[in-house]
Amino acid sequence: MNQDKIGRFIAEMRKQHNLTQREFAEALDISDKTVSKWECGNGMPELSLMQPICEILDINLNELFSGEKLTDADYKKKAEENMLNLIREAENTKKNIVGGKVLGNAVNVDLNVSEIHKSNIEFWDTIGNEFLGTTSLPNWGGYLPSEDKLNLMGKLSGKRVLEICCGSGRSLKYVADLGAADLWGLDISKNQLERAKDFLEEQEIIANLVHSPMEDECGLPTDYFDIVFSVYGIGWTTNLDKTFKLIRSYLKKNGAFIFGWSHPIHKCVSVENGKLIFSNSYFNEEWYCADMSDKEILLSNRMLSTYINALANNGFVIEKLIEETDREKAMISDNDFGRKALMLPTAFIIKARK
Ligand SMILES: C[S@@+](CC[C@H](N)C(=O)[O-])C[C@H]1O[C@@H](n2cnc3c(N)ncnc32)[C@H](O)[C@@H]1O
Repeated sequence: MNQDKIGRFIAEMRKQHNLTQREFAEALDISDKTVSKWECGNGMPELSLMQPICEILDINLNELFSGEKLTDADYKKKAEENMLNLIREAENTKKNIVGGKVLGNAVNVDLNVSEIHKSNIEFWDTIGNEFLGTTSLPNWGGYLPSEDKLNLMGKLSGKRVLEICCGSGRSLKYVADLGAADLWGLDISKNQLERAKDFLEEQEIIANLVHSPMEDECGLPTDYFDIVFSVYGIGWTTNLDKTFKLIRSYLKKNGAFIFGWSHPIHKCVSVENGKLIFSNSYFNEEWYCADMSDKEILLSNRMLSTYINALANNGFVIEKLIEETDREKAMISDNDFGRKALMLPTAFIIKARK
């Protein structure tokens, strides 16, 4: 499928119908940014929009996929070509599975650190938690048992604790309530940090909040922390190896690093008509771009072995890997995410030691 050609064709037909990008977008109930993206050849309309697009532009699906108007003589040949292209692309399509939802397709992109940071900061500065929901302690994410049950942190009284990707600051409050004495948080999003600061101040909790990507040197104290933890944060890094190296440097000897993230197998399996379908390759660790209500996120789905080997390569000793589902929680859920969690882990936690 030639996205450039299709994009140019959509733009040409839109103009022939005297529609601005905004008017066209409004008729489809989407943003004009999305229309602009298609017209620049960056991505294709979702399946559910294809027929409405054809109706508005007075073209047929075969013409949309071909990116040109077709004569009757061309029609059959092009239909066959398009059919083959669609089958080929379906084989390579990655589904965008975030949290419990399947959100359209995910398009592979090259690893470009500044682009990834730019998109992800924009997402977290604006809709972030409103869209994905906040995950903070005692909840480690997905249907994992909660920290109250797992007690991975151990006794926190008097401890120096750092949260990587502290987001809303809710987890820092959790550890403060359990007696942690010296609290630090790091996040790439200024907006998240401001919200965390306001929230913690309201709770009369003092914390040092640092604005930086986790994969960059940022002046955090070294050989200092008893515990470094992260809840749905580590997977956002563009450099896992460097991130683990830095985290190890912040920890005291014997200090613990504990993090939870979406389980890679969960991102490979979607629920369709009540059945679990393998829709992404477990081995595919390429970066992908996914649309999230008008914004984009850029992520990669790393294999579990990638996390474990990166920890080992950076001198961590792995103490625990948790891939459990809290069955009670999953049994009472009335959605596909809960039913899926009864069959496979939706998130994992690793506890490692310096
Ligand atoms: C799912 S949220 C974590 C939620 C957090 N546990 C809470 O309680 O709000 C992910 C966080 O990671 C941050 N983030 C994303 N990429 C990052 C990076 N490269 N370095 C540091 N923080 C990053 C985002 O700004 C966001 O606040």
